[in-house]
Amino acid sequence: MKNPRLSALPGSLLLLLPLCAVLAAAVLPGITRLAAVLPLLLLPPVKYIYCVCRLRELAGAGLEEAADFILGPGSFFTGMLQRRGEIIPFLKENFPSPPAAVAEIGRAKGGTLMLLCRAAAPDALIISLDLPGAIHSGPVPALNKGAWRLPLLRAMAGPGQDLRLIDGDSKLPSSTALFEGALDGRKLDLLFIDGDHTWEGVKSDYETYSRFVRPGGVIAFHDIQPGLEDFGVAVSRFWRTAHLPGTRKEYIEDPAQVSYGIGALRLPG
Ligand SMILES: C[S@@+](CC[C@H](N)C(=O)[O-])C[C@H]1O[C@@H](n2cnc3c(N)ncnc32)[C@H](O)[C@@H]1O
Repeated sequence: MKNPRLSALPGSLLLLLPLCAVLAAAVLPGITRLAAVLPLLLLPPVKYIYCVCRLRELAGAGLEEAADFILGPGSFFTGMLQRRGEIIPFLKENFPSPPAAVAEIGRAKGGTLMLLCRAAAPDALIISLDLPGAIHSGPVPALNKGAWRLPLLRAMAGPGQDLRLIDGDSKLPSSTALFEGALDGRKLDLLFIDGDHTWEGVKSDYETYSRFVRPGGVIAFHDIQPGLEDFGVAVSRFWRTAHLPGTRKEYIEDPAQVSYGIGALRLPG
């Protein structure tokens, strides 16, 4: 279902359509009003259904094809706050064989979740913990919230994958208990930390959830490049100053870039 017309519809246009519908309803007379307003109102749900179907189709795709969609036609509903030139090499280099258990803290629209699903084994356990619409949610936090997102997120996992979506503050013991329950005694091959980017937030996520990663597994920190500390993003300082046992590797597309960048910590085996 790779419909070129729906693919081409720019995401930002979808936000303007209801506004155009209201304007058209206000200025146009009678039947012309109906003819103008209906398509404007119908386009966002049509694009949504298209995204769910396309995500399902991509369940068997590779990382590159999945990234083409979430950064392209699917970006409005399922985009990611990642640089393609960082996350794909990170996943490929660290996981030559597909990981069996992965988790992310910080989902936003689910773009990274889609790539984690594609990188993981067909029968993998995939946990996504997020406090929808919280701090560091991206430009339109409301787009990351609500039950309407569930079909999109569920469509990201392959038929044999076990996707557990947990909504809650990662700092709360209740969220940690749900996370531990989802693992059911298993250990993670990968923990991707990309939630609350404040110093306290990233420190707490590392200290609370690193115990769920197996020896030899990987803990990844997103936004290790500096530049946004004035906006509460302290991952860079944490990555550079905290004592983190293991072997480090950095994935940074452009050394001059502000923020982004992935720090990979491989735990001692
Ligand atoms: C930068 S976004 C994640 C981006 C996502 N990984 C991607 O690449 O598209 C950060 C996410 O963390 C969530 N978040 C912020 N504080 C949190 C907390 N204390 N617990 C759980 N999630 C949190 C935000 O709501 C947001 O969805």
